[in-house]
Amino acid sequence: MFNANNTLKTVRTDYQKGFLTEETVLENPFHQFEAWLSEAFDTGNDYANAMVLSTVDAHQMPDSRVVLLRNISYGGLTFYTNYKSKKASDIKTNHNASILFFWPDMERQVRIEGAIEVLPVKESDDYFESRPFESKVGAWVSHQSQVLKSLADLETSYEHELQKYAGKKVPRPAHWGGYVLVPQKFEFWQGRASRLHDRIQYRKASETKWTIERLMP
Ligand SMILES: Cc1cc2nc3c(=O)[nH]c(=O)nc-3n(C[C@H](O)[C@H](O)[C@H](O)COP(=O)(O)O)c2cc1C
Repeated sequence: MFNANNTLKTVRTDYQKGFLTEETVLENPFHQFEAWLSEAFDTGNDYANAMVLSTVDAHQMPDSRVVLLRNISYGGLTFYTNYKSKKASDIKTNHNASILFFWPDMERQVRIEGAIEVLPVKESDDYFESRPFESKVGAWVSHQSQVLKSLADLETSYEHELQKYAGKKVPRPAHWGGYVLVPQKFEFWQGRASRLHDRIQYRKASETKWTIERLMP
């Protein structure tokens, strides 16, 4: 029988897949990020753009969930969600947030900190338009993060909306759209042997300049 604690105590990996130096990283963290993202997709990871987004609520309680990175634009990383969700309420109270990528095949982690802004409406409209019909309808039906009393009610309402929009253009609901996290800091982590991991941090020094530093593992 699976014994969680025995397994957790003994499971170990010695990281050997790569290295990262101040001399070899790219000057711009966005370029470095895109290079690693591309390699993560190349390993066959279909979830390479899945990122853990952490926000903090009005009571200083942090919360995390996975969202999908959909674009690198407007000076940051964009994702789409419901503007009435828990995360949206957190962002309204405190626009500071962090994003985390973990790419196990490459033994890599990227941590990003910054402030979140609402994406321009046109950008959300264009992205919404590109989504499959069922996803568009789903955005109308789900009151994301609210308590659902009856699954049957949600399914009925989805069926109803499917019929309502059959053969028609589905408009973007005002409560659904994008955000952009504009980074102030990036940290690129590459697993190394004997736990002497590489950690290279970029801190924003000005609009165009980033300070690059190595951190202790
Ligand atoms: C792989 C994966 C991708 C997801 N992508 C998104 C996304 O892009 N947008 C989104 O709103 N929720 C996404 N979710 C669901 C969120 O993790 C979360 O359940 C939802 O957004 C509600 O979060 P909240 O209550 O903190 O607002 C995804 C979940 C997983 C596991």
